[in-house]
Amino acid sequence: MNRKEFLAQLGLGAAFVLTASCLGSCSSDEIASPSGVDFTLDLNDPANAALSNNGGFIINNRVVVARTNAGSYVAATQVCSHEGNVAVTYSNDEFFCTVHGARFDQKGDGLNSFGSKGLTVYKTSLNGSTLRVFA
Ligand code: FES
Repeated sequence: MNRKEFLAQLGLGAAFVLTASCLGSCSSDEIASPSGVDFTLDLNDPANAALSNNGGFIINNRVVVARTNAGSYVAATQVCSHEGNVAVTYSNDEFFCTVHGARFDQKGDGLNSFGSKGLTVYKTSLNGSTLRVFA
């Protein structure tokens, strides 16, 4: 092996090490679900207009707040329990992660293998047009 071949192999090895370490630690699984959640939303605020419709949802500080098809309100972390991606939304009356398709019911229970770890959900309380979301 000459010097050039050695350096090429070293470069490939370094790239592998960087890639392997990144795969292990660069994933977003270090992002924690919001803690100490306690905020209110004004449902008359145009920014929250999606909550006027059944099936609509908004995202506020990594919390998905949704209006169910039955007209009640539910909330859950936006941080998926599968690989920690901040990608949970609300679709088809359940929480849904857009990365690999994890599905969670309104109580945070997993509905498929990607969602098997469940999802942190928060309580909601409606007082007039003020919706409180809290842990
Ligand atoms: S990170 Fe959400 S399904 Fe994989």
